[in-house]
Amino acid sequence: MIRQEVLALIARAEAGADLSRDELTCLLSLGGEEQKALFAAADRVRARVMGDGVHLRGLIEFSNICRMDCCYCGIRRSNRHVRRYRMTPEEIVAAAQGAWRLGYGSVVLQSGEGDALDPEELAGVVRQIKATTPLAVTLSVGERTREEYALWREAGADRFLLRHETADPELFARLRPGRRLEQRIQCLLWLRELGYQVGSGFMVGLPGQTVGTLADDILLLKRLNVEMAGIGPFIPAPHTPLADAAPGTVEQTLNAVACVRLSIQDAHVPATTALGSIHPRGRQLALACGANVIMPNVTPGKYREHYQLYPNKICLREEPEQCEPCVAALIVGEGRFVATGPGHSPRWTA
Ligand code: SAM
Ligand code: SF4
Ligand code: FES
Repeated sequence: MIRQEVLALIARAEAGADLSRDELTCLLSLGGEEQKALFAAADRVRARVMGDGVHLRGLIEFSNICRMDCCYCGIRRSNRHVRRYRMTPEEIVAAAQGAWRLGYGSVVLQSGEGDALDPEELAGVVRQIKATTPLAVTLSVGERTREEYALWREAGADRFLLRHETADPELFARLRPGRRLEQRIQCLLWLRELGYQVGSGFMVGLPGQTVGTLADDILLLKRLNVEMAGIGPFIPAPHTPLADAAPGTVEQTLNAVACVRLSIQDAHVPATTALGSIHPRGRQLALACGANVIMPNVTPGKYREHYQLYPNKICLREEPEQCEPCVAALIVGEGRFVATGPGHSPRWTA
């Protein structure tokens, strides 16, 4: 049975109305037939605003060296069980060129926070990728100075991913020792000022998070007017303070994906690797309720096992050449197609 008031709320969301915290909390809590109606509305908005193409971003995990000690993260500084690595600039550029040869339109260069590559070196890598391929380049290297962000933007970086992680300032401070939510938001504002396409996002199911927090997460993304929103389940990692915590659920994550699609209708929303790691069809389920991006791993196979943010991560034993056909088949199997080109935000190309 679907309540009339829920149907009316979903219809308002689909029409692009600004929803209140209470209304988002209601949508985020739906189950059964009502949840199906929510997913169907999010899928219609995705099809109407973003189309049926699924954009592929090749993810290069170029270093797991990190100065931070985030309680949720498997490669946090104090985890002594991790073998640390950094790819050389040449290896990173080669991985990006390989992604281009596989047909991807953009790459994401991701690492722990810190100077695994010094800022000038990273700028050089960006310049070289831009000079030798038509790829859009996204960076995901954490909280840095405004000067560093400016340097990389001048080098040609197009986008930056920096999840806010949780919109609850106290929870944020507890989970990211030494850092405050306010600083992370400041970084996102700098990135916006510098002309990056900005991606943020959050984890679902963090210990201490409530449905109200998730509503706040979505309101924050809307306030930041992000071009990309990454939402994945929290997955407890061994040898971290949260090793014994409960993971985020598939259902709750999908509800959040659908609500984000309804709230920021023209954002790129990935079907995350984390969701694919806790459910065999996690990425397919996300594609059916609002997601329109997949980030296949293009890190060389020998490094992958050392970039385990959480256990049972998919694609650990594959090489880039194996993930590409796998992802393409997954997309076609959902009645969608692989989008070509860099897949900029529609706001950029409009
Ligand atoms: N170091 C950069 C940063 O923190 O922004 C970029 C890399 S970081 C590993 C990328 C994302 O991984 C984080 O934003 C966080 O949301 C996610 N992550 C880390 N640990 C996780 C876990 N245990 N479960 C799910 N996602 C996790
Ligand atoms: Fe480092 Fe990012 Fe992991 Fe935090 S989430 S410990 S900043 S890699
Ligand atoms: Fe890597 Fe399927 S996406 S094996």
